Amino acid sequence: MTAPVRSRLLDAIEVRAQRDFGQLPSRFFFAPGRINLCGAHLDYSGGDVLPMAVDRGIFVGIRPRGDGRIRLRSVDQELAFDVRTTDVGDRTREEWGWGGYPLGIWRAFATEYGVDQGFDAVYAGDVPIASGLSSSAAIEVVTAIALNAVHGTGLEPEQIAAMAHRAENDFVGVRCGIMDQYASALGRPGQALLVHCAGPRWEHVPFDPAACEVLVMDTRKPRKLATSGFNRRVEECREAHELLRKHVRDLSHLAAYDADDLAACRPHMPEAVHLRARHVVSEMGRIAAGVAALRRHDYAGLGMQIDASHRSTATDYAVSCEELDVITDAARSCEGVYGARLTGAGFGGCAIALIAPGRREQVAAHVAEVFRRRFDVEPGFDLLRIGEGPGEIGPGEGGE
Ligand code: GLA
Repeated sequence: MTAPVRSRLLDAIEVRAQRDFGQLPSRFFFAPGRINLCGAHLDYSGGDVLPMAVDRGIFVGIRPRGDGRIRLRSVDQELAFDVRTTDVGDRTREEWGWGGYPLGIWRAFATEYGVDQGFDAVYAGDVPIASGLSSSAAIEVVTAIALNAVHGTGLEPEQIAAMAHRAENDFVGVRCGIMDQYASALGRPGQALLVHCAGPRWEHVPFDPAACEVLVMDTRKPRKLATSGFNRRVEECREAHELLRKHVRDLSHLAAYDADDLAACRPHMPEAVHLRARHVVSEMGRIAAGVAALRRHDYAGLGMQIDASHRSTATDYAVSCEELDVITDAARSCEGVYGARLTGAGFGGCAIALIAPGRREQVAAHVAEVFRRRFDVEPGFDLLRIGEGPGEIGPGEGGE
C-alpha cells in the first residue's frame, strides 16, 4: 500500500481512539490480506495451496488495560463493543459480529497463556470486507501479533497462524482450512507461500512484482451462500474421504488419493461427491505444475493452471456463478492477461486476473464493457501488488 494510505489509516485509528477512549494507542500492528494463486479449496482436504500476501490488510492500534475489559472499535464500521473478559466464553455470539475474531484470539491467549487483562483496540483496513481477500484472517492475525507483543508470549509466526486458525474454527465456528491465516502470518515481501496443508509445512517461492500484477475484479454479487455452501463442500470432501478409505485404501487426506483410486471408488460414490473429489485430485496436479512454472518465473505457465483451476472449481466443485465465469472469461480474452480465476471461497464476490504490468486500464475497460452489457452492472477493479507481511509499525513508519 502507498505511504499516504497507510498514514491516513493510522491517523484515523488515532482519531477514533482519542474520541472513544480518551487516549492514543500505545502500539500499532499490521497483517496483510491474501490472494490464492492456485490450489482452490484444497487446504481443508490436506492438499497444497499457493497464497500470496498482498499490499492490503488490517491495522490495529492497541493499548493493554490493567483490568478485565475489552473495548473494540473500527474506523470503517460503526460497530463498537465493550465486553468484560469474564463474559467471553468458548464461542462467539451473534451480536458481536466481526468482534468475534479478536475476541476469539483474546480467548486463546487467556486459555493457553493465562492472560487475563483486557485491551482497547481500534481497527482500520483497506481490504474490502467479504471480498474473498481474507479480511477475517487478517483481523485474527493482527490481533494475535499485537497480544503476543504486549504480553511477551514469544509466539513464532506459525504458532500465530495456528492459533488464528483454531480461533476461526472453534470460537467463530467457520470450518475453513489453514490457508488464510498462514498466508497472513507468514507472508513476506517478494514471495508467494506454498503451504502443504497436510503437515503443515510451507516454503516461500519468489514472485516477481515487475513481471506480474494482480487485478481484482469485483462482480458486486453478494457472496450469499459463502458460509453454508462452504461448509457443505467441507462435508462432501469428508464423505469422499470416508468412502475412499472404506472401498479403496486408507490414506490420511483426500488430497493424497489419485485418479485411479477415484475410478475404483466410482460405483460407491454419489455423483456430487465424486465431482468434488475429482476437483481435489486434479487440482493437486495443477498446483504442482503452477508452482513449477512460478519457480521458473513463467507467469504464462502459471496462468494456464489458474485458468484450468477456475474451470474445475466451476464445473466439478460448483462454487462459481455466472458473474464469476463471465468476468474471468472477459479478462482471459485480453492481451497481457496470464490467467483468471475466482478468489476465496467463491459463490460471488471477486475474481483475480494475473496481468502484465501496465495492462490494467485496457483490461479493466474491456472487462467492464462485457460485464455491463451482460448484467447491466458496473464491476469494480483494484490493482494489488505483492505485500510486505505482518509486523509492528514502529514510530516514524506511518508514512508521513
Ligand atoms: C476460504 C477459506 C480457505 C480456503 C478457501 C478456498 O477462503 O477460508 O480456508 O478453503 O476459501 O480455497
